[in-house]
Amino acid sequence: MHTAETASPFGLQAARDSRADAIGARPRSTLRGRLVGAADLFAWPLGLSHYLELVNPLWSTHTTWARVVDLIDETADARTLVLRPGRGFGAYRAGQYVPVTVTIDGRRHTRTYSISTAPGRAPGRGGIAITVKHVAGGRVSGHLVRGIRRGAYVELGTPQGEFVLPDAPRPRLLLLTAGSGVTPARAMLQELSARGALADVVHLHWAPRAADVIFARDLASLAAAHPGYRLHVLATCEPPSGVATAGHFSPNLLDARCADWRARDAYACGPRALLEAAEAHWTASGCAQRLRVERFQPVLAPLPADVAGGRACFRRSGVTVETGAGQSLLLAAEAAGLAPAHGCRMGICHTCTVTLRSGRVRDLRDGRVTDEPGARVQICVSAAAGECEVEL
Ligand code: FES
Repeated sequence: MHTAETASPFGLQAARDSRADAIGARPRSTLRGRLVGAADLFAWPLGLSHYLELVNPLWSTHTTWARVVDLIDETADARTLVLRPGRGFGAYRAGQYVPVTVTIDGRRHTRTYSISTAPGRAPGRGGIAITVKHVAGGRVSGHLVRGIRRGAYVELGTPQGEFVLPDAPRPRLLLLTAGSGVTPARAMLQELSARGALADVVHLHWAPRAADVIFARDLASLAAAHPGYRLHVLATCEPPSGVATAGHFSPNLLDARCADWRARDAYACGPRALLEAAEAHWTASGCAQRLRVERFQPVLAPLPADVAGGRACFRRSGVTVETGAGQSLLLAAEAAGLAPAHGCRMGICHTCTVTLRSGRVRDLRDGRVTDEPGARVQICVSAAAGECEVEL
C-alpha cells in the first residue's frame, strides 16, 4: 500500500503535458515497441506508461522514478539513500552524478548528487545510492537527510559527468576529498576494489572531526584490505585518535603525505577553498592537466564595483521582479514563487536554459553581458544587467 509520499506524484494534467514527449520518444521498431505503440493508441490522450505509473511508478517509461529502499545514517548530518530505480535508468560510471527531483510542499526541486556506489555495488539488484549532507538552510538536503522515509519515490535524471576513472587498468591515483566530496571517490574506490585494481591510491580526506567522516568504516575497511590504498584522514578541528597532524590543504602537507603527487592522476572534490588551492598548486607546478576537480558550486567572476541590481520580467509567468546585484535569475524566479526547470544550478546541465526576449543579462561566471534577443540563457548562472525579459 502506498503512503501519501509513495503514491504517484504525477497528476493527470502533468501526464497529459508530457505525453507528446513520451510517445514517439521511443523507437517502435521492435515487437515490444509496436505493442506499446498500439497500447498507446487505446490509452489516448495519455500514454500506456502513464497508466502503468499509477500502478507502480517504477514501471513508468516516460519518467524514471526510484524508490527509497533503505536509509543509512553516515554521520550526524549525512545520510545515504539506497534507491531502486525503475525502467529507463541508464548505465553510469563510478564518479558520475545524477539529477534528483523531489516534491516538497507541492513544489518540485531538483538537485544533483554524486552516486556514492559503483555500478552493481549498492545493496539490492540494480540499485544505486546517493549520500547527502544536510546544508544549513538547505530545503532539499534537509528533506533528504531528515524528512524522507523508506518507500518514498524520487525522480532521477540521466547520470552524467566527466569525473570518472582513467582507462589505465591499475591507475596510480591521488584523491583529495573533503566533507561530502568523498561521495564520488567512494564509488571509484569500490569500482577499483571490485576489479582488483585498488593497488596504488593515496587518499587525503579532510573533515572537521573524526565523527564527521562520511563512510569512515567503509574507507578503513578498504584500507585494511588493500595495502596499496593509503588513506589519510585529516581533521581540521580535532585530529582523530592516532593522527598527529591536521590542517587544510597546503603544498607542504601534500609533499609530506604524497611525495610523488606529480606522477599521479589527481581527483579533487570538496569545498571551493580546497579546489581552488589544489588548482592553484597544480597549475603553478605545471601539472594542471593531471588534476580533475568536481565542483558543487559554480566559479563566479567578481562583480564590477558599479554593478547594481536589476529588473527581470518572466514573460510567460507574467511576473516582474527587482533583482539583487549578482542574484541569479533562477533565484529571483524562485523567490517570486515560480518553479523554473533546473538541474545542477551551476551552469553544467543546461536544464534551466531559456530564451532572452529583450534587455541584458550578465553571465555570472565570466561577467560577459548578452543583449541579443533570442539568445539562450542559463538562468542559474545569469543575472539581470539592468532590465531583461526572458521566456519563463
Ligand atoms: S540548472 Fe544546470 S545549467 Fe542551470
